[in-house]
Amino acid sequence: MDDFALLKRYIGQTLAIQCSNYKEDYIKRRIQSRMRSTSCPTFDNYLKFLKANPSELENLRNALTINVTEFFRDTDVYEFMKKDILPELFRQRKQLRIWCAGCSTGEEPYSLAMILHDLMAQNPEISAKIFATDIDKVVLTKAQEGIYTPRATGKLSEAQIRNHFTKLPDGNYQVKPHLKELIRFRAHDLMSGVPVSRWLDLVICRNVTIYFTEKQKDELVRMFHSALVPGGLYIMGKTEFLGRQVESLFVSYNSLQKIFSKKD
Ligand SMILES: C[S@@+](CC[C@H](N)C(=O)[O-])C[C@H]1O[C@@H](n2cnc3c(N)ncnc32)[C@H](O)[C@@H]1O
Repeated sequence: MDDFALLKRYIGQTLAIQCSNYKEDYIKRRIQSRMRSTSCPTFDNYLKFLKANPSELENLRNALTINVTEFFRDTDVYEFMKKDILPELFRQRKQLRIWCAGCSTGEEPYSLAMILHDLMAQNPEISAKIFATDIDKVVLTKAQEGIYTPRATGKLSEAQIRNHFTKLPDGNYQVKPHLKELIRFRAHDLMSGVPVSRWLDLVICRNVTIYFTEKQKDELVRMFHSALVPGGLYIMGKTEFLGRQVESLFVSYNSLQKIFSKKD
């Protein structure tokens, strides 16, 4: 086994991240960025460094699971959810089950929860539950705390801040309980092959699969398909595509917004 393979095996054992499921180039680039930061010239040096400095494992995890996110990222998708998707799903069912997969620090499920809360305020008969998951327990803890800097909340309107956040003495903003109550945060690996729940009306998995291998992406799409109710919707990231092997499982609901409807 070469040094790179040994390093990947160690990452699998310690961080439970199976590198073989990700594109090799991607894994190499992310590890090399940590090697530069720790002044390790070779994979072998970096493996020794990791074993001697367990705190580096957290840095490596962050490098491998890039967590970039923001409130209402790609605003038009949220506008479409608010005006089209959610009212349409609520017409079919009074209680929605939604999976926000790869939710990072929580901005995505909380954005969705703000929209849902406003819709529910107009109609007391409807309700929703969001399962928000991520492989990275560090970001999940932040998501559960729901504390954001003024910079992170900068894109939100004054009304959204007033209605859904409490200003803390240090100037940060904490999400109010009425939004948190809509969300169940849970650690979950999308490569596990097992969905977080079934009978889902909507799966939102955006900007997560870009580094997965084609095979992993297809398996993930099959898993989402099996977890959705007939006609349930799957929203991908703007730069992501349905693979050839799995495109027949869905019909396009809105091609611009990358939204697909499960075929029965
Ligand atoms: C770029 S963020 C996207 C966050 C959010 N969906 C958005 O679009 O703003 C990607 C997230 O996917 C998570 N992730 C990567 N691989 C994963 C896996 N195998 N299972 C679950 N989450 C994963 C990362 O930890 C990271 O938080």
